[in-house]
Amino acid sequence: MKAFQLIPAIAEYEDFSTYAKEAQLGGNDLILTNEYIYSPVIERLELGCQTLFQEKYGMGEPTDVMVDAILDELRGREYDRIIAVGGGTIIDIAKVIAVARPEDRVDDLYDRMASLEKVHPLVIVPTTCGTGSEVTNISIINRTTKGIKQGIVSPAMFATEAALIPGMLASLPYGVFATSSIDAMIHAVESYLSPNACAISELFSEQALHLILTGWRAAVDNGSRDAWKKFAARFLRASNFAGIAFGHAGCAAVHALSYPLGGTHHIPHGQSNQMMFADVMRKYQEKKPIGKLNKLEELLAKELNVEPVFALEELYKLMDAVLEKKPLHEVGVTTEELPVYTTTVLETQQRLLNNNYVELTAEDILDIYSKAF
Ligand SMILES: [Fe+2]
Repeated sequence: MKAFQLIPAIAEYEDFSTYAKEAQLGGNDLILTNEYIYSPVIERLELGCQTLFQEKYGMGEPTDVMVDAILDELRGREYDRIIAVGGGTIIDIAKVIAVARPEDRVDDLYDRMASLEKVHPLVIVPTTCGTGSEVTNISIINRTTKGIKQGIVSPAMFATEAALIPGMLASLPYGVFATSSIDAMIHAVESYLSPNACAISELFSEQALHLILTGWRAAVDNGSRDAWKKFAARFLRASNFAGIAFGHAGCAAVHALSYPLGGTHHIPHGQSNQMMFADVMRKYQEKKPIGKLNKLEELLAKELNVEPVFALEELYKLMDAVLEKKPLHEVGVTTEELPVYTTTVLETQQRLLNNNYVELTAEDILDIYSKAF
């Protein structure tokens, strides 16, 4: 039995200025962020920190090429703390940079994953409400040389502090809110169903689901695209709680099956998860209708005000109202790719598949892809 442990300190701040004062940010700190986040909020505080803007080294989700370019840029620079302010890409890159020695390249870190050590203290300020990555010790990098997204994981990659500042979500476009909150919801569900869940991680999964589902319902009923912003603090906290839950119990098949889609077709992570979610849950229901899944259905039923037997279908509907689910063929996936994905998932995603509610065979996985197609 793995003991529940929460490593990063977690603090909520009213705004970035309050955090900067308390942390005494200055010239010895490196702020890793995007210019569009830095310019309106941080620049005017004149903190004198060093900066590095990720988008200058590549766009989209983190790749080995992008991280190697950043490591090249940082070689020879003197700095102590890394303050990562951003979404999943920034956070994943920062965790890797925090354990990289000056001479390292990304492949070196995969090679010595078991013995990585923290080189820089790391503070993470999330600006989306999805990854929960501020409290986990894993980064997902698209290894372009291998054509696969793969996790790099180490106890050394935990942040020193996760700083939650709801105001940092203010400029989030609706699409990013939608995909990131869907990702957080799926973290809560997968960690809840995981055989590695414990009574404490379940509390965080349950509370994350409560915050997200009531927030979605209120935002959808309001009808305005910006309505979710009233609940920004709630979604930020929910994604943090879901991160704490999956940091302990792990994610599972939804994430495992979604990675090849993201890697090959560059679909946002939360969206590719959404594309797999319902069909993975249906396969779970088919293979093991009696079990923890019923506890999840009861929990969802209470939040969504329906009978447990309709709870998952109701959840898919609500999620569709937040972001319409696309079938795989609409994003360019071909039928020929499905058996290839199935093999890739079985070969490279055992870390996640081990957390499945019920074991999935190659035939099951191919069937899930075919139904989502
Ligand atoms: Fe995720």
